[in-house]
Amino acid sequence: MTEAHAAKPFLKWAGGKGQLLDAIAARLPEELMDGTLTRYVEPFVGSGAVFFHVAQRFRFGDVLLLDANEDLVITWCAIRDAVEPLIDALGEFQRAYMGEDESGQERLFYAARDSFNRNRPQYNFQAPPQQGVERAAQVIFLNRTCFNGLFRVNSSALFNVPFGKYKSPRICDADNLRQVSKLLQGVRIECSDFERASESIDQATFVYLDPPYRPISRTASFNSYAKDVFGDDAQKRLAAFCRSLDARGAKLLLSNSDPRNENPNDDFFDLLYGGFNIERVPATRCINVNPEKRGAINELLVRNY
Ligand SMILES: C[S@@+](CC[C@H](N)C(=O)[O-])C[C@H]1O[C@@H](n2cnc3c(N)ncnc32)[C@H](O)[C@@H]1O
Repeated sequence: MTEAHAAKPFLKWAGGKGQLLDAIAARLPEELMDGTLTRYVEPFVGSGAVFFHVAQRFRFGDVLLLDANEDLVITWCAIRDAVEPLIDALGEFQRAYMGEDESGQERLFYAARDSFNRNRPQYNFQAPPQQGVERAAQVIFLNRTCFNGLFRVNSSALFNVPFGKYKSPRICDADNLRQVSKLLQGVRIECSDFERASESIDQATFVYLDPPYRPISRTASFNSYAKDVFGDDAQKRLAAFCRSLDARGAKLLLSNSDPRNENPNDDFFDLLYGGFNIERVPATRCINVNPEKRGAINELLVRNY
């Protein structure tokens, strides 16, 4: 596999780990190299930047990807199980969009957004992935054409990001979708809370966890990918989950925002993950409503090895 032909994330996702990848890659467990770790589990997969990295470098007998966002999961599943119909649907979106001027593109965007939101209440998320093609195409289309490529839903799980005014976005990247589909054959993808991953984790498992960020300030509260906010109680539940997996012998790597960027005395995660290996690594936070607050900050990397 050359870098040019490598499968890569098909969505731009809030909190995507693309720019932290080097730091993460440098801290992967050695047992990945010698083949002792035969399972990979990622309970907050999002756009899967770390999955794409490890799955194309190491061989696993079993891979489980989980996320609580139903629309995201049907998109992953449609790529795995129905990539050609999905490419056709995205090709149609691409042709329609490119055939319009800016106001026509805007109309197309809002028509797709309305249809996506209108259909949500009665949508059967348990339907076979082949039936999810249209909705998956809408997810990718909206992600490529919305403002900042940010997938955000409100408290009713409705997509509420405005039009992005991109003139020629790459809506249908057929080559990449086919590469992703190939990589996903045999991969289990489930929509659920992270704790459901527990039964698939043993001492031969590498688990990468990237939960929604604990907001670093009141204005940077971009942790609403799913309709339920991931608050401090959820962070504590996650830490207890990590301790139980640690006791089982799994190898864990967790990333999170560093509250010390805002308040040098905030030791929330230092206490929560006491006894683990906690590092602060430099990163650039791109998603903040206030552009002046986008800049150099630290992220936390927590490991049990
Ligand atoms: C920081 S993002 C992960 C980003 C990912 N690492 C990437 O590279 O794109 C956090 C993800 O957790 C998901 N999530 C939120 N609450 C969850 C829960 N209770 N269980 C599982 N996933 C959850 C969100 O839908 C979101 O996709």
